[in-house]
Amino acid sequence: MDPIVARNRTDLIEARRDGTLALVPTMGALHEGHRSLIRLARERADQVVVSIFVNPLQFGPGEDFARYPRTFDADLEACREEGVDVVFAPSADDMYPPGRQVSVSAGEMGRIVEGASRPGHFDGMLTVVLKLFNLVRPDLAVFGQKDAQQLALIRRMAADLDVPVEIVGAPTVREPDGLALSSRNRYLSAGERRVALTLSRALLAAADEPGAAQVRATAAKVLAEAPPELEVDYLVLVDPATFTEVPDSYEGEAVLAVAARVGATRLIDNVVVRLGR
Ligand code: PAF
Repeated sequence: MDPIVARNRTDLIEARRDGTLALVPTMGALHEGHRSLIRLARERADQVVVSIFVNPLQFGPGEDFARYPRTFDADLEACREEGVDVVFAPSADDMYPPGRQVSVSAGEMGRIVEGASRPGHFDGMLTVVLKLFNLVRPDLAVFGQKDAQQLALIRRMAADLDVPVEIVGAPTVREPDGLALSSRNRYLSAGERRVALTLSRALLAAADEPGAAQVRATAAKVLAEAPPELEVDYLVLVDPATFTEVPDSYEGEAVLAVAARVGATRLIDNVVVRLGR
């Protein structure tokens, strides 16, 4: 069955049925990674709402807001194939009526790692996610582990602001050669894509190392051998909940996260590593 397309908050209220509801927030340009989030949502709830909204608040000056892929017809078809009940695709005016003053602050955790490279990004992201939660009123919401700091901050927001939504994380989906799926991959030329593969190679090579120091060293070595077209922004090994660097003596789960620019495209990736076995 075709999903109901809700273009504004009134349509959305009309489309809501009784039963458990799962929200999958997206910016569109849906790929297999998004489909895996939708399938997880489907398993967990009676009704699935996918939001499609390229949120201007989370893009900084000089970032790719204007050229971010907008592929609504293909997205709708993907949602139909995945059995989505409602696609919520509001306009920017509907999401942000004039006179807006109040927004969410991601705090110190929003200013480190990815937040240090993209000032204001996480404040804008949390603001739209909280608005989506308030509009859709889901029981649960599904986010990809690919954006690990985003996921950690959404969990933090839900805990700190008593948001009554269960936050579900879903594993990163990769191409057979290891490249993490991302809407931004479509910016890459064939040559750039080959260079971009260094990111997943570095992470996957380091993932089985037993200690924090070895994990950092192995990943850094692979990145150092990359072609010069790969400009690494950061490589960090952090606590999954706080995104602060873990010490070399750390035992338990950590996130090895990397960001790099390949040509005009900025990519991020991460793996969860288990240290001190
Ligand atoms: O991950 C994304 O696509 C976006 O950051 C999100 C969560 C939909 C908020 O705009």
